Parts: sequence; structure tokens; C-alpha cells
Amino acid sequence: MEQFVVTGGARLGGSVSVLGAKNAVLKHLVATLLAPGSHRLENVPGILDVHIMCRVLEHVGASCAIAGSTIDIDVPVHLRPEAPIDLVRQMRASILVLGALLARCGEARVALPGGDDFGSRPIDMHLGGLESMGATFDLVHGVLHATAPDGLIGADVHLEFPSVGATENLLLAGVMARGTTTIGNAAREPEIQDLAAFLGAMGARISGAGTSTIVVEGVPSMSPAIHRVVPDRLEAGTYLVAGAITGGDVTVTDCVPEHLRMELRKLVEAGCEVTTGDDWVRVVGPERPLPVDFATLPYPGFHTDMHPQMVALLTLASGTSVMTENIYSARFRYVGELNRLGAEVTLEGQHLIVRGVATLSGCPVDACDIRAGAALVLAGMVADGYTTVVDAQHIDRGYHDFVPKLASLGAEIRREDVPG
Ligand code: EPU
Repeated sequence: MEQFVVTGGARLGGSVSVLGAKNAVLKHLVATLLAPGSHRLENVPGILDVHIMCRVLEHVGASCAIAGSTIDIDVPVHLRPEAPIDLVRQMRASILVLGALLARCGEARVALPGGDDFGSRPIDMHLGGLESMGATFDLVHGVLHATAPDGLIGADVHLEFPSVGATENLLLAGVMARGTTTIGNAAREPEIQDLAAFLGAMGARISGAGTSTIVVEGVPSMSPAIHRVVPDRLEAGTYLVAGAITGGDVTVTDCVPEHLRMELRKLVEAGCEVTTGDDWVRVVGPERPLPVDFATLPYPGFHTDMHPQMVALLTLASGTSVMTENIYSARFRYVGELNRLGAEVTLEGQHLIVRGVATLSGCPVDACDIRAGAALVLAGMVADGYTTVVDAQHIDRGYHDFVPKLASLGAEIRREDVPG
């Protein structure tokens, strides 16, 4: 067990680059299962979730060789169509092997997924869509047994909500299905566009990715491909809020500013100076943030995975902000930890009422999940004294070199083993 120890008070300055998006590369790794042969993914972050997904692939029969930010994946002709319960429980993205294995093998055995505790996270839309494509499911001792003995057949699927994972599972299932699959009310996230680009390089015929209607014309087979993963807008956004909260001056490079449009707009409303170039964003933080109301929504709305970091910033605002969480029913466990630091945040239904305070005061807090953990580190950077963020492995699931990157910007932060 490790923890991060942060000493408050430093104003961050300088520039930091980001790698490829966790929420893209995890899906690209699964997509490689669709075509036997040697694939290569570049710009891959060395994070825990990538290692877990590589172990899922290895269990299925593929081999993954990681060298720096490149992964070479070798996919055999014959796969073992199952994902083990101990890995799937650790990471919700493993549910995507369902679509890919059904497409490749006509069957799959996948444990029900775990992942961050944000309230109930059903997979009804994944299963409903795959059922329309000819799959049948049986739940046996917590493991889904899926079959499509006659192969998957293209279908018209309209999602009840633009679920990222359901859109991706249907894309993976549709690329080699017989006929045309139409995904209506599809998620429009940049990571989905990037998955479609990778699948396109493998020979898939997909149109409309990035819009609410994606059309997939099934092809009989796919080939291996090389792909550079889209930059991580959440990693970029987190370092920009780190600059903002410390009243610093931080530039994030190798990112796509367009993918952070709503988050940058809210930083401007909070009093930050924001400038952008083709692949960089610079944020100069205010002496004290202004209060801002915001609501999380599917892309291009404000990203739910940037909500805790933005709330951390607003704990110090010169007034009261209201945040509405529309994606998850219970992404609020970290609020108690922020309040332990002296913040005044109250939960009312799906709303957080954030009453700005003048100072925070360091103490031990629990990371809770990836983004909450990052937000608590940011709060610790402006809290008086030391803040110890325990359960730091949550943060390692999503951020590559989090401590060295923040330290390179001037943060006083170190990683240490939990005593005992
Ligand atoms: N939902 C259902 N039924 C379904 C699928 C989803 O009710 O069949 C609900 C979920 O319970 C949730 C909402 O729909 O309340 C959104 O879920 P979605 O399927 O869009 O999310 P996801 O695919 O499970 C991905 C990211 C999350 C990110 C969300 C939303 C990955 C691996 N995870 O999850 O990222 O919060 O999209 O943008 O891509 C993170 O990186 O920290 C993280 C949690």
C-alpha cells in the first residue's frame, strides 16, 4: 500500500506533456482481439489499468510486450473466449471483451464487471444491444455465458442513454457482423472516434463516429494495425486545474484543446486566463477562484471525470457554486474527504453545494477512486501543512507518473509506503 504526501503552498509553473487516453487504449487493446496477427499501439500510458487489460488479453491467448509508451500485441488465430473474474472485478472496461469475443469466437464467458464505486452501474444497454444482434446470455455463478452460434447479425440499436461502454461494445460486435448495424443515441466521446479510427485501420467500415448515429457495415475479416492513441483529455484537464488551484501558470502539451472545450470554459468563468494552441493549453490561475455552477453531461458536455477536480478548485472560491452530477448516481464519497480538509460542501440529491472557504488545512484523506484521488491531491497542494492521500493505487490506475509530473511543475509531493 502506498500513499502520496503533499505539502501545500507551492504555486505550480511550467509545462507538462500528456500521453494517450486510458479510456481509449483500454478499448483498443480489446479491439486487437478481432484480428489475428501483430498490432502496435503507440502513445500508451504506463498505468495500472493498461497492465490489467494486458493480463486479460494474455488470459484469452494474446501476448503483450510493453516497451516505453508502445505496446506490441500478438493475437493468435484461436482464442480462449473467457475473461477471468479476478481481473474483470478490478476494471469495468473488461466487459468490452464481450463484444469482441462474441464477434471472433461466437461465444464468451465474462464475469460481471467491477470498477469504481459510483453507485449502481448496470450493463443492460450492452446486453440489450448484443441481444438484438443475435446473442443470448445466461448468468451462471456471477459469470455471463454469451453465445451467438449463428454469428452476430447487424441490427438497429437505439440506446436509452449515450453510454460510452455500450456504444463501444456494439461497435466491436458490429464490425464483423453480417449486414449493417446502426447505433442510435451513440456516445460521441473523442475516445469513441479514436476507437473507430483504429478499427478503420484494421479494415472496419464505420461512419458517423463522433455523432449520435454510428453506422457499421460488417466485413468478413479484419487485419492487424498500428495506431497512435488520442491524448488523454482527463490527464490534461487535471494538470490544468492543478495550475488553476495553486494560482500558478501551467501549460499542458501534446493534448487536443478542442476535447476540453467545456472544461476550459468553466475555468475561464472561475477567473483563469486560458490560452490554447494546436496541441497545447496554458492556464494561469486567479488569486482566488470565482464561484461557478456546472453540470456533468455526456460529451461535449462537462466530463464527469473532471467533476471532483473542479469541485476541489471551487472549495476555495469567493462564493457558492452548485455542481450537478448527471452521469452517476453516487459519485460523492470523496466529498467527506474534502470536508475533512476544511471544505464546506454539502450533498443535496444529485447536487453539490460548494461554499467557498478561505483556506484548507492538511490531514490524512482516502483517495476513494481515480479522479477523487487526483482531486484530493490538488486540494492538498493548497492546504496548510501536509495532506496524506492514502490508497494511492487508485490514482495509479489512471495517471502515469503523477508524482514526478506534478513535482516537475513545482509541487511538493512524494510517494511513500504506508507504514506497517
Ligand atoms: N449505464 C447503464 N446501463 C448500461 C451502461 C451504462 O445504466 O448498460 C449507466 C451507468 O451506470 C452510468 C452511465 O450510464 O450511470 C454512464 O455510463 P457509461 O456506460 O457511459 O460509462 P462507462 O463506459 O462505464 C466510461 C469511462 C468512465 C467515465 C464514463 C462516462 C472507461 C473505461 N470508463 O465508463 O471513466 O466516467 O465512461 O464518461 O472508459 C474514469 O476514467 O475515471 C472513469 C470512471
